[in-house]
Formats: sequence, C-alpha cells, structure tokens
Amino acid sequence: MRILIVCLGNICRSPIAEGVLRHKVKRAGLAWIIDSAGTESYHVGEPPHHFSQKVCRANGIDISGQCARKFTASDFDKYDIIYAMGDDIYKEIQRIGGGKAIMSKVTFFLNESMPGSNASVPDPWYGEESGYTEVYKLIDKTCNTIIHKYGR
Ligand code: 4NP
Repeated sequence: MRILIVCLGNICRSPIAEGVLRHKVKRAGLAWIIDSAGTESYHVGEPPHHFSQKVCRANGIDISGQCARKFTASDFDKYDIIYAMGDDIYKEIQRIGGGKAIMSKVTFFLNESMPGSNASVPDPWYGEESGYTEVYKLIDKTCNTIIHKYGR
C-alpha cells in the first residue's frame, strides 16, 4: 500500500496524519509507504507547524524531520490511495491532475472513519493550540480505521 495524505499547506493537518499513520503501520508490521503533500506551495521546504509537532510529540511521535512539499500530477502514478483532508483539497487535487487525474484513487480522509460523510478535517491554521489537539484525535481515530480496513 502506498498512501498519500493531502491538505493545503502540508504543515498542519497532513503532516500529523503522515506521522500517526506511519507510526501505526510500523507497529502493525506493515510495509506500507506513507507520505503527505499540500495543494499550495506557501510552506514548501518547511517542517511541520510547531503545534503539530507538539501534539505528536506528546503522543510519542516525532514528526520534526518531515518537510512540506507540493502535490503534483505525478503523485497519481506513485500512490494507491490519495486522501484529501477537505472538499477544497479534493477539488484542487482534481484541478492539478488535469486530464491525468485518476480520481478513483482519491477519497476524503474522514470517509474512512465516517463513511459517506465527505467531511473535512478542520483547518487549525488560524486557531489556537486546542484546535491541533482536536485534529489529532480525529486523525488518530481515522488512522486506526485505515489500519484495520487494509492491514490484513
Ligand atoms: P494545513 O494548514 O493545510 O493543514 O497545512 C494550513 C497551513 C497554512 C495555510 C493554510 C492552512 N496558509 O494559508 O499558509
């Protein structure tokens, strides 16, 4: 399994999901490839937001070595599943892919824990630290579902 998780800046939500899912995959003894990207290039080359790092560290996961990158059309060839953190991200993935977009690979991240909801992981960027804790909980629960669903 090769999984890509995509948000807007690749510094708040998707780096948490990358770190948490990679941690659970390793613990489950699975040989999956996990990566994350952003649909915008504002923060390319930067490490995850300090509150994203902090909430992961509090849960025993070190994401400090991760580095923001932009989603590109070639990602459709490299991954089996591409998770969008929200509706805006889903649409932007489709736009960036243009004629090469393989949208059968793309789904809403939260549809794994809330099937058919097409719900978005709230963007904590403009908020306070508590927002990152809430996002972590949502992501942690959803990653458990992903491991349970595909990890057999
Ligand atoms: P993310 O959050 O998409 O979860 O990484 C954001 C990060 C940066 C910005 C917006 C959202 N920004 O506008 O710079």
